[in-house]
Amino acid sequence: MKEIPVIIFGVGGVGRTLIQQIIDSRSAIANSNQYHFKVVAIADSTQWFFVPEGLSDSELTTAIGRKAAGNPLGGSQRPSAEKLISMVVAAGVENAIVVDVTATGGMEPAIDLALEKGYGIALANKKPHAGPWETAQAYYNNGAVRHESTVGGGEPIIASLRYLSDINDTFYSCEGQLSGTLGFMCRELQKGRPFSEALAEAKGLGYTEPDPRDDLSGEDVMRKVLIMGRMAGWQLEQSDFEVESLYDADLADCSVAEFMERSSQMDAGLAKRFADAKANGKVLRYVGRVTENGGKVGLMELDADSPMANLKYIQFHTELYDEEPMMIIGAGAGLGMTAGGVLGDMISLARENF
Ligand SMILES: NC(=O)c1ccc[n+]([C@@H]2O[C@H](COP(=O)([O-])OP(=O)(O)OC[C@H]3O[C@@H](n4cnc5c(N)ncnc54)[C@H](OP(=O)(O)O)[C@@H]3O)[C@@H](O)[C@H]2O)c1
Repeated sequence: MKEIPVIIFGVGGVGRTLIQQIIDSRSAIANSNQYHFKVVAIADSTQWFFVPEGLSDSELTTAIGRKAAGNPLGGSQRPSAEKLISMVVAAGVENAIVVDVTATGGMEPAIDLALEKGYGIALANKKPHAGPWETAQAYYNNGAVRHESTVGGGEPIIASLRYLSDINDTFYSCEGQLSGTLGFMCRELQKGRPFSEALAEAKGLGYTEPDPRDDLSGEDVMRKVLIMGRMAGWQLEQSDFEVESLYDADLADCSVAEFMERSSQMDAGLAKRFADAKANGKVLRYVGRVTENGGKVGLMELDADSPMANLKYIQFHTELYDEEPMMIIGAGAGLGMTAGGVLGDMISLARENF
């Protein structure tokens, strides 16, 4: 049995689900691959646990239970991410996998240090891959860095892009509906519901980020499309994208409560756009699209009876998949799938790199 040390940054929804999946699948992973993931460190934004011999499953269960209940992680005060990696290295931990399931920016120095020390990286956090090309390029075409869950929440999007790139196919475009939250909003607006009412429901059901502007701005979708474009071989920057926000600029800086209260100011404009599309036999969907020249993220008209208007899809239009693009359809978000994508990356790293 090969013990693989694991360091996990982020104990939110995805991080907790991942830890539970590691615990639940121990015997299956041992039987099929002879690996044992030894979690040596877990960190949230303020605290961490570091046990070079590995935290026990009962210690891990207690820690994720505390976080799920809204309590602090319970460990000691956390050093910076970079210092944390240095401390793990100094303790003699070798061939570890660093997991980034935070949503935070600025993880690059820690990731770079971990790579320098021969560690593998598995991320659901999109920000390192969507940063400036100068820093992000080291993470592309790098066998030690896996990021399946950055796009499509665990569906094999990155794996498919890698496969098409490996067989030297020529990409023409990548596109898809990449936000479950915005998909929900479009379907509700199509039914004639006011934007503010649909948004209040989405927030109440926990479909949105705590600040719904993080979804409505389109920035998260843009990061996903940028990552797909870069996987297709195009050295694009965020500035190469036109991004349509679904809220007015004057609501950018107010509190979340005030934003929700004033969100009805978008009702009439969006209702008209959805009604106009309907009158043309079309529907509006929030779509991200990228070609070698850049991308566009926003509401786009689709034929009402086309599969794309009615499915959660991501598609690649390439030289080989020209008349009939390669399409991946299915739930593209959710804690179980996203954490599963990270666990799959950890197994691939263990299998291929160590
Ligand atoms: N949820 C999904 O369906 C889904 C799908 C695809 C991709 N993702 C991506 O997966 C990542 C995690 O999503 P989530 O839903 O689990 O987010 P979340 O619930 O907001 O959890 C984020 C976690 O990261 C921690 N964190 C923040 N800054 C940190 C730092 N510097 N070092 C260590 N930990 C830090 C937070 O700590 P505190 O607890 O102390 O605040 C929290 O535990 C995000 O990048 C998200 O975009 C999520």
